[in-house]
Formats: sequence, structure tokens, C-alpha cells
Amino acid sequence: MAHPRLPDPYRRQAQREGFASRAVYKLQAIDSRFRLFRAGQRVLDLGCSPGSWLQYVASRVGADGLVVGIDQAPLVISPQPPIHYLAMDVLSLDLTALMVLSPYFDVVVSDLAPATCGIKEVDQQRSLSLAEAAWACARQVLRPGGHFLVKVFEGPDLKHLIQRLTETFLRCHRLKPRGSRRESAELYILALHQRVGAEAGSRRQ
Ligand SMILES: C[S@@+](CC[C@H](N)C(=O)[O-])C[C@H]1O[C@@H](n2cnc3c(N)ncnc32)[C@H](O)[C@@H]1O
Repeated sequence: MAHPRLPDPYRRQAQREGFASRAVYKLQAIDSRFRLFRAGQRVLDLGCSPGSWLQYVASRVGADGLVVGIDQAPLVISPQPPIHYLAMDVLSLDLTALMVLSPYFDVVVSDLAPATCGIKEVDQQRSLSLAEAAWACARQVLRPGGHFLVKVFEGPDLKHLIQRLTETFLRCHRLKPRGSRRESAELYILALHQRVGAEAGSRRQ
């Protein structure tokens, strides 16, 4: 385990490169492998504060794209187009406010993380509730063929969410990207290519 007082190379790199947080390198690692983002895309970022994923995605989708970030905490970056920020709790999300900005998204990413209490089972459950809320939102706005990336803490109940994603997308991957601390229970589920007809409104579920 890394010594807690050793400087974190990712944090220093983020400061040097002008990113709001070290979290950017996890998304960058996933994107380098799977090529999630392209110019002109519409991307929804759940749990976007302080804003490093917004910065990264904005650079990938460019001026013709759209990046909407939602968080209950304020950003440390100042959002300029293509970035839009909505201050909201994802556990009581107002989809109308979101869909005014765009009725659909090509990619939905969630780096939502709960306030942790140190009790493993409680923290897992809180993380899973946020991941479920992210999926409930993504189901409403993700276009057919679109991708969903979600952070969640490893735990026994995770298999139910993974099963639903496996049914809804062509491919699912469990990822522990570069930059994710080895001692952290977090992992990312990447669900690629939402099956046509699997989006909300086209099926019973
Ligand atoms: C790890 S941080 C995200 C870092 C971000 N990806 C970045 O690159 O800057 C997790 C975020 O989840 C947010 N969050 C946790 N619970 C939330 C909720 N119920 N509604 C909205 N945001 C929430 C926190 O406020 C926090 O900003």
C-alpha cells in the first residue's frame, strides 16, 4: 500500500496539466482503450464535480459536441460551451431540466461516489444506490448504440446490476483503470453498444 504521505503522482500531473482532479486519468485510460468519445457527441457526466471529466470529454467532443454535467456539489472549473452544469441530486433527478438541454445522449458516464463511513457493507450499498440511480437516468436518455460507464464499489449485490447491463448492451467490461488506487474498492463497469430496442420506452421492464 502506498505511504499516505507520499506525493500522489497523478495529483501532481493533474495540477501540472490544468485538470481539476486526478480522476481524469482513469477516464483517459478507459477512453484510450475503448475510444468512447468522438467529435460532435453528446455526453452526460453524472457526479461531475470538481470537473476533470468534463474538461477531458469537452476536449474530445469539441465545439460541435455537448457535455452536460450533474452534481450536487459546485464545480471548481467555470463551465464554458460545450460544457453545461446542472446542480442536482441524482437520487431525485429532474429529467425535464436535463432533456431541455438534449433529449438524448451518445454516452453516459458516472463517477458518482458516496460519502463513506468506513463500514464496508454500508459504503458498498451507498455506492450501488448511486450506480442504480445513474443507470435509471441513462436508461431514459441513452440512444440505441450508446455507451454507459459507471463507477461502483465491489460487493455481493453488484451482480444484479451487471446482469441487467449485460442484457441491455452488446458487451460489458469490469475495469480497474490506471489511476484507480489499488486499495480502493472502486471499479468501473463499461457497457458498450446499447441494443436497439432496449432503450426505455421500447420495452417492458
Ligand atoms: C469522485 S467525485 C467525481 C469526480 C469527477 N469525475 C471529476 O473528474 O472531477 C464524485 C462526485 O459524486 C458526487 N455525488 C455523490 N452523491 C451525489 C448525488 N446524490 N447527487 C449528485 N452528485 C453526487 C459528489 O458530489 C462528487 O462530486
